Amino acid sequence: MIPQVHINEVGLRDGLQAQSKHLSVEERCRLFDQLATTGVSSVEIGSFVSPKAVPQMAGTDQVLRHALAKNTGVALNALVPNRKGYELALASGCKEVNVVVSATDTMNRKNINMTTAGIMAASQGIIESAVADGVKVNAYVAVAFECPFEGAVDPEQVISLSKRLADWGAQRIVIADTIGAANPFAVEALLRDLLLGISADRVACHFHDTRAMGLANTYAALQSGVRHFDTSIGGLGGCPFAPGASGNVATEDVAMLCQQAGFSTGIDFSALMAAVDLVKALTGTAKGGRAHYWLSNHLDKVVGQ
Ligand code: COA
Ligand code: ZN
Repeated sequence: MIPQVHINEVGLRDGLQAQSKHLSVEERCRLFDQLATTGVSSVEIGSFVSPKAVPQMAGTDQVLRHALAKNTGVALNALVPNRKGYELALASGCKEVNVVVSATDTMNRKNINMTTAGIMAASQGIIESAVADGVKVNAYVAVAFECPFEGAVDPEQVISLSKRLADWGAQRIVIADTIGAANPFAVEALLRDLLLGISADRVACHFHDTRAMGLANTYAALQSGVRHFDTSIGGLGGCPFAPGASGNVATEDVAMLCQQAGFSTGIDFSALMAAVDLVKALTGTAKGGRAHYWLSNHLDKVVGQ
């Protein structure tokens, strides 16, 4: 049996949330329509955050409603920073939400205006509500390797937060290298210890390519047994509250790595290249992943995989 890798496309959220050009709801819906044809397992549609804090995400409810109405079969999820975000997501028909806890106090204060203890308590409440409401919930542990304010992060802190979030009922723990400071050896070391307590199918990785190590980190996670990854079309991405965060590892780069290594992702590379072209045209800033040029000229070599 061909081993599967699940790609969660985060371009509509992580990709767009720090862009100086704000895409309209109509443009985001158009991008969703294209992404839904690519074969990715799921799409993060946006975030239910204060439009004052992140104006790029205003109208996420409308993008979600559009995507739900299209009934594409692609799973949809959305970021909820707090209880209010959860209620708004639920009211829009969201069936899968993402809560975010940063591994350091300073990052939590900058991102969400709460201490780590405060956001953990809020997340526990949201996770328990989600379980009761039949909503799937993924829990992100952000700045899992390095914090832009506090520096190196102790892996024990990441493991401790992850275990508590998993115990409360989060279906998946997402280890997020928010500023792209991880290296493959650090990824392997963290996952080795984390996976002693949480099974690999409940863990996902979210890498940024700031220091060109996104793919190497993905390889390390694959070798550790992780099969769920967040990626962003065209390598778009960044966090408005984490200085130095640049683009996520590109969907096309991870899809290509998986394809070459014999994993199945369900990706249709031709549709994926069309999505890269669209996101480049819409934003004017997406560069495209490093595999983009080769893939664009060799689609015959990857079609049907
Ligand atoms: N969705 C929409 N509006 C929200 C909201 C949400 N999830 N949470 C709070 N608000 C609104 C409040 O209603 C209030 O509105 P008002 O000024 O019109 O009364 C305003 O935002 C401030 O609310 P408050 O509870 O005082 O929050 P705060 O000032 O402490 O800010 C957040 C907290 C969560 C609103 C803000 O930090 C935020 O949205 N951060 C986004 C984090 C993010 O997206 N990070 C990137 C991804 S990890
Ligand atoms: Zn990110």
